[in-house]
Order: sequence, then C-alpha cells, then structure tokens
Amino acid sequence: MERRDFEGFGGVRLAADAFGSPDAPPVVLVPSGGQTREFWHGSAKALAEAGRYAICVDLRGHGDSDHAADGRYDIDSYAHDLHAIVAALPSRALIVGGGLGAITALVTVGESAPHLVSGLVLVDINIWFEEDVLKRLHTAFLERTVRASSPEQIAQAIVAAHPDEPAPRATDRLLSAFAADENGRLEWRGDHRALEFGDLYRQQERLGVAASRIVAPVMLIRGSLNSTISNETLLRLQSMIPGAELGEIEGAGHFMGADREDSFNSILLDFLERHAPRKPLSYIGGSEPRVLRDALGCFGTGVTIITTFDGAGQPIGLTANSFTSVSLDPPLILFSLSKRSANLDTFTEAGRFAVNVLHIGQQPLANRFAQRDGPRFEGVDWSARSEEGCPILGGTLASFDCRNHAVHDGGDHLIFIGEVHHAWFAPHRDPLLYFRGKYRRLHFT
Ligand SMILES: Cc1cc2nc3c(=O)[nH]c(=O)nc-3n(C[C@H](O)[C@H](O)[C@H](O)COP(=O)(O)O)c2cc1C
Repeated sequence: MERRDFEGFGGVRLAADAFGSPDAPPVVLVPSGGQTREFWHGSAKALAEAGRYAICVDLRGHGDSDHAADGRYDIDSYAHDLHAIVAALPSRALIVGGGLGAITALVTVGESAPHLVSGLVLVDINIWFEEDVLKRLHTAFLERTVRASSPEQIAQAIVAAHPDEPAPRATDRLLSAFAADENGRLEWRGDHRALEFGDLYRQQERLGVAASRIVAPVMLIRGSLNSTISNETLLRLQSMIPGAELGEIEGAGHFMGADREDSFNSILLDFLERHAPRKPLSYIGGSEPRVLRDALGCFGTGVTIITTFDGAGQPIGLTANSFTSVSLDPPLILFSLSKRSANLDTFTEAGRFAVNVLHIGQQPLANRFAQRDGPRFEGVDWSARSEEGCPILGGTLASFDCRNHAVHDGGDHLIFIGEVHHAWFAPHRDPLLYFRGKYRRLHFT
C-alpha cells in the first residue's frame, strides 16, 4: 500500500491509499459520508491481487483529506474532487462508490466525466432520500461526533442510524474515522460541517437526469436488509440508467462492503472482468519458465509434506503441492520431485513415501519443510504407524502411506507413483491452500 494524494476542487488535498501497480487499470473507491478510505481497504487488496490499481480516497473533510476552508460540502464540490482524481489517472478508471460516494460518482460521471470512466459500481445508492431519513442519519452522525467513550458507543450510534439491519461486524473499518485522545475517548476526526449532507433530498430531479445520461456500464449493489433503500427504489433507479445491472447481497446491511467482503468482492471482480477485462498473459514454448510457473499457479492446490526414511532410519521430508490422485483400483497417487532435491536418491532408494495433507493451522510446517536449511523434524509431532510405514505427521487433514509403484522421468522432475496401503483422514478440518504463489484459506461466497 502506498499513500498517494490528489488535488481536488479549489486546491483541497485529498488523501488516498493506492494498492497494486500504477500501470494496471485503475479503480477508484469512494466511501460513504462519515466513513474514511480504510472502509474499502479489503476490496482494494483483492482488486490489486486481481491485477488492478486500486485507490481508496477520503472525501474532503473526512479522514486525512483537507477540510474545505470555505465550508463547501455540497454535491458539486464532492463531484469536482472525484473528477479531478479520475482525470489525473493515466487510463480510464472504474469507480466504486458507497452511499454518498455513490451519489458523488453518479453526478461526476452523469454530468461531466462520461468518457473518463470504464464503469461504475454503486453500492447502496438512493437518489430519492426523504428528508426524515436524512435527518435520522444526520442525528446519528452527530451522536457519533459527540465524544464517545468506547467503540461500542459508536457501534450503537451506527445501529440507531440503520435500524432493522445487522449490526456492523467489521467495526475496525468504521473506527478508523475516529481518533482517540489521551484518555482513550474517541472523536470523529473529520470536519463536522461535512456531516450535514447538504440538501440531498432537494436534488432528486438533478440526480435522475445525471443517472439517465450515464453511458458506461453500471452495477447497482444493495444489501438485502438495507434500511435506507428498498428494492423497489433500486429497480426504479435501474430503469433510469441504460443497461444497469443489479446485484444483491443476501442478509447484508449498509456496511456489506466491509462486513461481507468476500461476497461483495466476487460480484465486483466479476463485473470488472466482464466490462473491463484484463488482457490475458501468454506463454509460448521457449518463453521464460517463470511465465509457465505463473500460468500453472492459476491452478489452486492443497499443500502436503512428503516424507520417507533415509538409509540411517532418519525421517526426511519436504513441502510439495504436486500431489495428485491417479487411480482408485489399484489405489495410486503421485507427486513429482525436483531433480535438484537434496533427497532425490533417498526417495528413489527408500521405495516408499507418505503424503501428509496439511490443514489451515499447519502453514508454519509448510514453511519449515520448504526451507533449504534448518531442522525440519525437530520438535515436530510424528510417528511411523507400521513396520513398512513412513513418518506420519500429527494432526494432518489426511495422510497416505504408500510404497513406490513406479518412478518416471518428468523433465526436471521425477514422478513418483505410489500405491496407497493405508490412509487416515479428518475431513472436518479446513485445508491449507496454495494459489498463485501464496498460501490461502477456503472461503465461501
Ligand atoms: C507450496 C510449495 C509447494 C512445493 N511443491 C514442490 C513439489 O511438488 N516438488 C518439489 O520437488 N518441490 C516442491 N517445493 C519446493 C520444496 O519444498 C523445497 O525446494 C525444499 O527445500 C526441497 O527440499 P529438499 O531439497 O530437502 O528435498 C514446494 C514448495 C512450496 C512452498
């Protein structure tokens, strides 16, 4: 992450955090009123991993952005700021906006920057705010700005502003909008004048015209339990924006961008891939092997430690993800071992090996057994479970004791096919995964 500031309307400095390579297609993430740029950090990291340049900004008067000297916190000022940001980027950005950030994006693109963006993802946007709903949000925000004694007090104010919604879970993202004084009391650290929300409810006609002028691909996303916008309202807005798509996150409220990050990110990435696809990379025979490795890294795997005994009866082992099932009858599996392995001869001569499939808590073991130097088995819980068995590590997700069935040449690797004579497994555990050169955990969207 890198701090990157922008100059907004009237010279107001806008604070931003950037993730990923500046050469990648940009995505600008704008938070809702009262929130700070940290709200979108989780999505920004996922976007950077997916090959995008993600920029999380603070609205003027929020977080670390300048306060407006003239006290201007109207929709025009916010829109001019966002226009300045997208205009400063070298290629067309996609804008993700939540709440006030979404309204800002709608006005920016609909009124002045139709060709500066590749798309819009508008989260929990309502252009027909009623005066009393705005008042409710305003009151809750004012409560928040009164010095709060604890994060719980702030969470309560948020719940009061969003009744009937699940209480926000990722409160740390919301708390970054607050600073603690020397007594630990929290205070919202923006310009209090920015919390007035202007006269949004008097802008309905203008916002409707801006919506109808948008030409870029648009996705409207709503948490199904959001109390400030109904599904009917969203359908009405959809009918005004040519070609707009709808997305809903079941059981989520206003803070789904942080609370239901996995579901939200998968909708966002899917939209990006369809409307602003990245050019696929390619490998041609004879290219750098590193490129092929990156291509193969797109296949997610589990992680194992392959073990055997050396001639002196000492346990040896290494981390491997080349484990594959081969046949059920006879029961065969394989793994491939680099010809550069210090244990190549040992595995060939031992005539047997075990595959230990690691669970999510065993990443330290994976690191230890992948390092060239340093002890591998010292202090590790292991045992051989039969006379002909190999070292079985304690607490694995599954372990397969095998005898060598065949060893084939495989270029710079040897392929060991083993016949399984015993297996133990504990399927209630979650696996340690490996994907694109990094350890991962399972998540369900
Ligand atoms: C996730 C992961 C998967 C790996 N998979 C393999 C593999 O399938 N085959 C292999 O030979 N090395 C693999 N390695 C590399 C070895 O673990 C590493 O080179 C180790 O130091 C080899 O030890 P040795 O020379 O004592 O056999 C992998 C490493 C990691 C981190």
